[in-house]
Amino acid sequence: MNTPFYHYDLDVLRRTLQTISGAIEGYPFHIHYAMKANAERKILDTIREYGFGVDCVSGNEILLALDAGFSPDKIVFAGVGKTDRELIDAIGSEVFNINCESIEELPVISEIARRLNKKTMVSFRLNPNIDARTHPHITTGKSINKFGIPSSRLWDALEELRKYPEIEFNGLHFHIGSQIRSIEPFIELCQEINRLQEELGKKGYSPANLNVGGGLGIDYEHPEKYIIPDFEAYFNVFKEHLRIPDGQQVHFELGRSVVGQCGSLITKVLYVKDAGEKKFAIIDAGMSDFMRPALYASVHRIENLTSEGPMQIYEVVGPICESTDSFGNIEMNEVRRGDILKIWSTGAYGTVLSSKYNLRDKAENYYSDEVALDDFLGQRS
Ligand code: LLP
Repeated sequence: MNTPFYHYDLDVLRRTLQTISGAIEGYPFHIHYAMKANAERKILDTIREYGFGVDCVSGNEILLALDAGFSPDKIVFAGVGKTDRELIDAIGSEVFNINCESIEELPVISEIARRLNKKTMVSFRLNPNIDARTHPHITTGKSINKFGIPSSRLWDALEELRKYPEIEFNGLHFHIGSQIRSIEPFIELCQEINRLQEELGKKGYSPANLNVGGGLGIDYEHPEKYIIPDFEAYFNVFKEHLRIPDGQQVHFELGRSVVGQCGSLITKVLYVKDAGEKKFAIIDAGMSDFMRPALYASVHRIENLTSEGPMQIYEVVGPICESTDSFGNIEMNEVRRGDILKIWSTGAYGTVLSSKYNLRDKAENYYSDEVALDDFLGQRS
């Protein structure tokens, strides 16, 4: 095994999936794993075993989900710019629902459905103008964001829909952002949904489904302490604050909280550079392997797996010719050339965002049932 590589602890993934299943038991709640977070086959296979569906955002994700054995009636498809090809894949394979993000999409969906001689179910993704209080780059539910139809235009959307007999109105969809660490934005979302559903009811609509999106954050600072996110508190928000009409089904699109903590990026220290004012630990993983620090200035816990030396602060940097190729100033056991570091909590938005920038090789993905990290460390010494 060459570093850098991603390593997934399937036991953590299974415990996470069990916790989610337990938390939703007895409620009309359905999980569609947001496969944009990690679309590795073994991850998908494990998630499918728990009966979850998937949330796809491209035609290729739909095709992969089908190939991985997800039934079309458990697939939802979203995207602010769906191509005709992707709509053909979605409608042709009879996915459960298309989340429509602009009124302008409707004639295109209708035309493709007619051509394929299919009917299709559509939910309107509404932009509720709620601040998710997270990083601006992953805030999606404010009116300045490109996502969804402004809530105030729901009535225009419903009016337009009447023109298209091949499209059935399935419900409302929301997604206000990602890595949301407080419950308030979700409470505000429930309140806005209650208001809209009441208005819908008054106008004679009773949508069969409601999709509240994803967004639950994880603890990047203390992953070992909070390896399983607090799903109970999260689902309790919806159990307590959402008024769910009889028979309505509620759908969730969780990504990060499902897979974030089961993955780590294992990397080797190439050099320790003493630059006077500070020390750099130069590692063989860079922003091409893991983009989050460069994109969102995110800081991940980093642990030196091969040293028990005194704690010191290093700026951990990758080999790429960009100053943003940095994992931040990290305190860890004294670092020497050849040490192996573990970058925690990289299961979500890690391997999927990796690239071949600088023509570097892509980091491989390995699983705990193939090789334990301890065995890898043992083989080296
Ligand atoms: N549903 C929709 C419509 C979404 O756009 C997303 C994520 C999700 C569900 C899943 O959200 P989650 O439960 O994972 O928060 N690359 C960024 C995150 C981008 C999230 C994009 N949309 C990061 O690494 O922080």
